[in-house]
Amino acid sequence: MVSQTLREARKYEEAMGAGISGIQRPAFHLCPRVGWMNDPNGFSYYKGEYHLFYQYYPYDSVWGPMHWGHAVSRDLLHWSYLPAALAPDTVYDKDGCFSGSAAVMPDGRHLLMYTGVVKEPRAEGGFREFQTQCIAVGDGRDYEKYPQNPVLDAGALPEGGSRNDFRDPKIWEEEDGTYRCVVGNCTGEKDGRILLYGSKDGFQWNFLSILAENKGRFGRMWECPDFFRLDGKYVLLTSPQDMMPKGFEYHNGNGTLCLIGEYDETTHTFREEHDQAIDYGIDFYASQTILSPDGRRIMIGWMQNWDTCNQRDSEHAWFGQMSLPRELSIEHGRLYQRPIRELEKLRCRKVQYENVVFEGITRLEGIRGRRIDMELLLHVDSEKRELRKFAVRFAQDDICHTAISFRPHESLLKVDRKFSGSRRAYIHQRRSLVNIREGNLKLRIILDRFSAEVFVNDGEQVLTITFYTDQSADGISFFADGEAVIDVLKYDLE
Ligand code: FRU
Repeated sequence: MVSQTLREARKYEEAMGAGISGIQRPAFHLCPRVGWMNDPNGFSYYKGEYHLFYQYYPYDSVWGPMHWGHAVSRDLLHWSYLPAALAPDTVYDKDGCFSGSAAVMPDGRHLLMYTGVVKEPRAEGGFREFQTQCIAVGDGRDYEKYPQNPVLDAGALPEGGSRNDFRDPKIWEEEDGTYRCVVGNCTGEKDGRILLYGSKDGFQWNFLSILAENKGRFGRMWECPDFFRLDGKYVLLTSPQDMMPKGFEYHNGNGTLCLIGEYDETTHTFREEHDQAIDYGIDFYASQTILSPDGRRIMIGWMQNWDTCNQRDSEHAWFGQMSLPRELSIEHGRLYQRPIRELEKLRCRKVQYENVVFEGITRLEGIRGRRIDMELLLHVDSEKRELRKFAVRFAQDDICHTAISFRPHESLLKVDRKFSGSRRAYIHQRRSLVNIREGNLKLRIILDRFSAEVFVNDGEQVLTITFYTDQSADGISFFADGEAVIDVLKYDLE
């Protein structure tokens, strides 16, 4: 039965979504049908299609009571909208259906696990949120909330766990057909931790272990966890709030964290060996992964950041985009990310240059565009030539440009959207330490109208930013303080 609240949301999104034309949206990144989008939810492969749900408030382009928007795709690049899947319409989720995930049941039903939010007034004034984990089951279009919801509440918390911060279940199926999920939580002191639960049928859950604990190292509350095996190791992804920087590895505010280590299945314990940020740009948060039918671990994230949500004013009909889906691997003990290979099918109109030697500003015939896949190889050889700074500027016209620059002496790569038409004083730049590999810095830059994702050295690092420069600004130029030598391979993406 579709509730009145969900029916209204579906009617509204259908009418208002139709008013947003294709060119007002990114071409191959998912944005909300209308209104606001944050985290990816329920990323799954069901009945021959990829399903992606998202945190959704259709009625305005700012955050509001959370619904789940819904879209499907066969290639993870071309998405079709389906009617919103969940609305805050029961006593246990009346103030929001927060983030969660999906699994396929043996009987062919699609199971969604999400966080139900209820606000309760506090004696001292104001409100306090209580969060529980809930289930909805459906057919890929309509979902019925489980009558016995919630399936995990305060009673399922280990000692000291906060009932206010207990959210974002990520479910997966084990080889024996049972289910596990990880849930974000924190202690009363707001110290993040990830809880592991197990279930035989997806409905009855029991606590297994505290899988990881922050102990004051990486921000406070840990949101949106994910846990999986990859290349012989185990990977825990989470998005910590209130981070403090550590060198160039983490930055202030809402960040991302990847822990790589070993997992003991009998004791349900995770032993950390390595930590790093997931994305080194500005706009990436709340990642979620899927195991594709052909065995690839694919990650998608909200291509935005809570600290920069005032980037667009509410006059715009939509706000928030998903990142490009990225194939994950572990190489040199680190998490590597590459754009999904399906993207190569969109490539057309190849333009290639080799060994372009230049000083100052240069432009190359045929190198322009706002929907492109561009590989740049910068030859860095300080014995042969002096290069103090290299930059590529894109989304460029007489007034605007967005830039990626590199200073070989410091090995620092910077993304900069200060001149991207913004009139707001939020963060516009971010720097990251990068490696020179075999005498080269390799950059693959994917542009899609309102975003740039920069894959460094075949996925060793990624820097993601969004910007809303007018689409007519499609120039690209190169800059060298000193002498630069570059190879350029560019495709349009259609
Ligand atoms: C992360 C998050 C989640 C929560 C959701 C609410 O971006 O804060 O923890 O479930 O957004 O929209």
